[in-house]
Amino acid sequence: MSDDRPGLKHLGIIMDGNGRWAKKRNLPRTAGHLEGLKALKRVIIEAANQQIKWVTFYAFSTENWKRTEEEVSYLMRLFTSKLLGELAFYRTHQIRILAIGDLLGLSSEVQDVITKTVEATKDHEGITAVIAINYGGRDEIVRSVNRLIASDNQITVESIASNLDLSQAPPVDMIVRSAGEMRLSNFLLWESAYAEFGFYEPLWPDWGAKEIQLIVGDYAKRVRTYGGLE
Ligand code: IPE
Ligand code: IPE
Ligand code: MG
Repeated sequence: MSDDRPGLKHLGIIMDGNGRWAKKRNLPRTAGHLEGLKALKRVIIEAANQQIKWVTFYAFSTENWKRTEEEVSYLMRLFTSKLLGELAFYRTHQIRILAIGDLLGLSSEVQDVITKTVEATKDHEGITAVIAINYGGRDEIVRSVNRLIASDNQITVESIASNLDLSQAPPVDMIVRSAGEMRLSNFLLWESAYAEFGFYEPLWPDWGAKEIQLIVGDYAKRVRTYGGLE
């Protein structure tokens, strides 16, 4: 672990285990999502403390529409009221909010709150929190390629990359997932090509400063050679 190794600049988080957290307590799954939101706030604050400049949170996948109407509509309400609408919290901690995914596939109400939250936080100078909503890695690549075809551009690795939702962000250094599952579930497929991975047992609603400190320590031990030699 040498000091000249670059630090963790962009962390991707697959927030999983809200349902299991609720089930263990005999609560409805929605209670797990509400608690998960509190974890998200703790994690943003600690990530900022640890000098991580960007965190991308997987909040709702293109596959999550398969869930019950009750759960989907609860999540959408949570996004509009609590996730995107927490302007005082974002101001206090200087958090800039961005959103990725097929946002046009969301209700006009959710789209509206996203637009307002992004606009209201755009000058905040602390951490950038990217919320992936109606996001799928395959869909992100397809939308990028379609934009290139429509503009008559050549399809190259560089042109696809520069049309992805996350093209303005620094490279994703590490992708972590809670609740012990070891899969990507369609998260950041392109961006994960050379990302480090970390899988952690605690359920998402139980995450806080400790997990972020652990991740920062784990990342510092990784040796990244990108196909080359150390
Ligand atoms: C993650 O928790 C939250 C979302 C996918 C929106 P889950 O709801 O997937 O929780 P488990 O996996 O059922 O425990
Ligand atoms: C991935 O979790 C999606 C989000 C965290 C938003 P899921 O719980 O939906 O994934 P699977 O079904 O276990 O692969
Ligand atoms: Mg899950």
